[in-house]
Amino acid sequence: MSQQHMTSHGIDTVERMDDMTFVLFGASGDLAKRKIYPALYNLYLEGKMPNSLSVVGLGRRPYTKEDFHNIIKESLETFSRRDVDTSNLEAFLEVFRYFIFDAMKEESYKGLKAFIEERESELSIPENRLFYMSVAPKLVEPITASLHESGITDTDGWKRLIVEKPFGSDLHSARHLNDELTKVFQEEEIFRIDHYLGKPMVQNLESLIRPNPILSSLWNHQQIANVQITASETVGVGTRAGYYDKAGAIRDMVQNHLLQLVMMTALHHPEKLTPKQIEEKKKAIMESLRPVETDEISKHVVRGQYEAGEINAEHIPGYMEEEGVAEDSNNDTYFAARLYIDNNYWKGIPFYIRTGKRMNKKSTKIIIEFKNEVEDDEDAAGAVSNLLMIEINPNESVGLRINLKDDSNEKFEPAYINFTKNLDAQPEAYENLLGDAMLGHSTYFAHWNEVELSWKWIQPILEAFENDALPLHGYQAGSEGPEAAEKLLNEDGNTWW
Ligand code: BG6
Repeated sequence: MSQQHMTSHGIDTVERMDDMTFVLFGASGDLAKRKIYPALYNLYLEGKMPNSLSVVGLGRRPYTKEDFHNIIKESLETFSRRDVDTSNLEAFLEVFRYFIFDAMKEESYKGLKAFIEERESELSIPENRLFYMSVAPKLVEPITASLHESGITDTDGWKRLIVEKPFGSDLHSARHLNDELTKVFQEEEIFRIDHYLGKPMVQNLESLIRPNPILSSLWNHQQIANVQITASETVGVGTRAGYYDKAGAIRDMVQNHLLQLVMMTALHHPEKLTPKQIEEKKKAIMESLRPVETDEISKHVVRGQYEAGEINAEHIPGYMEEEGVAEDSNNDTYFAARLYIDNNYWKGIPFYIRTGKRMNKKSTKIIIEFKNEVEDDEDAAGAVSNLLMIEINPNESVGLRINLKDDSNEKFEPAYINFTKNLDAQPEAYENLLGDAMLGHSTYFAHWNEVELSWKWIQPILEAFENDALPLHGYQAGSEGPEAAEKLLNEDGNTWW
């Protein structure tokens, strides 16, 4: 089977996926069930699979092949965006094998090597091996080292590594992890997942302007007043306090997802860029991101924590009442900041970013606000600034806010032009990402330069949080976040959209 790129004229190019072994660490884990099996199944339904594929699922539990197939089947029935088709399910499951594995035992790796090789020879698959670490972050480094020591990564074909976030927990640990991984895999062989980069609307950002001259004439930095990036959620910490109470919104959402959205928004370019150019441009953007000086952090950054409140008429407990949260926790569940990209294009244009749990709605969006030059014009009473609105989640849409005259009173009123995508036909982020990793396409993965520069920008803020050097603002569950975040924009004469 092969990867097909469709255009309005039909099949454009056909890109073959190499035959390969897909080694999945953490095969009975939550991520595998929620995302990885459904993504593989939907890729399979679309014919985006190699001719010969061997998937080896690894875990400590003593499952048989049948148990494993049942787990996958249940995961598809629960989480696949397409219904499971019984006529092809068996053929799909047939490529999956389970191997009982203890990441900390040397014998496990010996056994795994033999197991992989046996399937490779059975199916005549060359030694192309993709290793997916769907495991606790602390296991990534020892597993990678043991893969190397056991010779499993010493292949005649290609090898690739997929790693989930978090990639480190600060600049130092991220550098250490990267040093260790690059002893075994080259940068080109490492695919760091940031699932926001797999979202179709985020992938659209780079090419939104090029084919739309109308948008490129709008997207003119002399006309842009500010850019606002929001990722708000209604969910709370849930059962993840063990991780989240140490990570906070800053590590969980800002260092990765929000800064990637900043890069993808700032990237826009009138010409088609090659993957290498995209990577270089993103790096350049991060290098131009103005560092926040330690004594200025409280001027540009707001941190918050949710308090009890209501969402959809349901009482929601405060963060401090959640199970597993430390009694003296000063963890951030909300983060907002003002950023500047000091390059020719974006100089002087503030980027505001914010994210929070237990907010009034689930919404990931990018708003470009244009200058309102008619604000003081009497003939344009009521006119407000134009907005270009890009919704990423839960809807995918592009909208414009313009001013139209209300004939009854001669005043202007905002009107909205909106295009919403049909979500049913949209691939899941993980489908895009797994398909790309299997093809060896790294554009929509977080490259080391971006990750390192993101941590570098974040590091002084992390330290300020740890030292409690800025206030922790409470905000009610179900609200729009702390008032201090509104003030951050008001200081510049702006407001959040
Ligand atoms: C994850 C975070 O990376 O992204 C979660 O760990 C968060 O805390 C999630 O809820 C949000 O993703 P999405 O796709 O629902 O916006």
